[in-house]
Amino acid sequence: MGALLNPSILSADFANLERDLGKIAGADYAHVDVMDYHFVPNLTIGLPVVERLVQVCPVPIDTHLMIEDPDRWAPGFAEAGAASVTFHAEAAQAPVRLARELRRLGARAGLAIRPATPVEPFLDLLDEIDMLLVMTVEPGFGGQSFIEGTLAKIRRARAAVDESGLDVWIQVDGGVSRTTIERIADAGANVFVAGSAVYGADDVAAEIDVLRGLADGAAHHH
Ligand code: DX5
Ligand code: ZN
Repeated sequence: MGALLNPSILSADFANLERDLGKIAGADYAHVDVMDYHFVPNLTIGLPVVERLVQVCPVPIDTHLMIEDPDRWAPGFAEAGAASVTFHAEAAQAPVRLARELRRLGARAGLAIRPATPVEPFLDLLDEIDMLLVMTVEPGFGGQSFIEGTLAKIRRARAAVDESGLDVWIQVDGGVSRTTIERIADAGANVFVAGSAVYGADDVAAEIDVLRGLADGAAHHH
């Protein structure tokens, strides 16, 4: 499978979300960041808006829940039709129970970790998830610079996934751009979230292809 490129609508125009989703019809998924003012110091959109985005989006929706108590709130996003629901390990009380519930509801289950959260405690649970999201900035805002120290964690995650033989995707989110994406792909990520790099481009559709092409060209070979 080639690299997947998921633009983050956090950098879209929140007064024109349907229009801006239309610009990313050539992407693999639309990445939707849900923030609650508690897990992160920012607030975005909630379930009622995501329910409508699912209905108008030209590509499947990849939700990234930066919220407290995902055990309680995440299943609703799967029920709303999000193709992928990612919750944070730091916020979940029972990540395996929640991942199983998300899968039961028909969504891909994603587990996210902040830059300072070690990946090792989760490597024995890869069978329970469809995607591991290694945050490459502190979650909460778009437009931050990539944290170089996360590359080693991506490499360790890739080695563990390959050793497991499981088809678990490794997503990266934060500071992904033309200048960083090749090194991140070489480290072993295969799903790339990009907000400001995509929506800040003059030609959004072309930028998706450029970024995906750079990732494919640099993809980790094993
Ligand atoms: C940040 C969000 C990201 C954000 C990335 O907490 O999870 O998805 O949109 O923005 P860029 O690509 O601009 O770093
Ligand atoms: Zn995100």
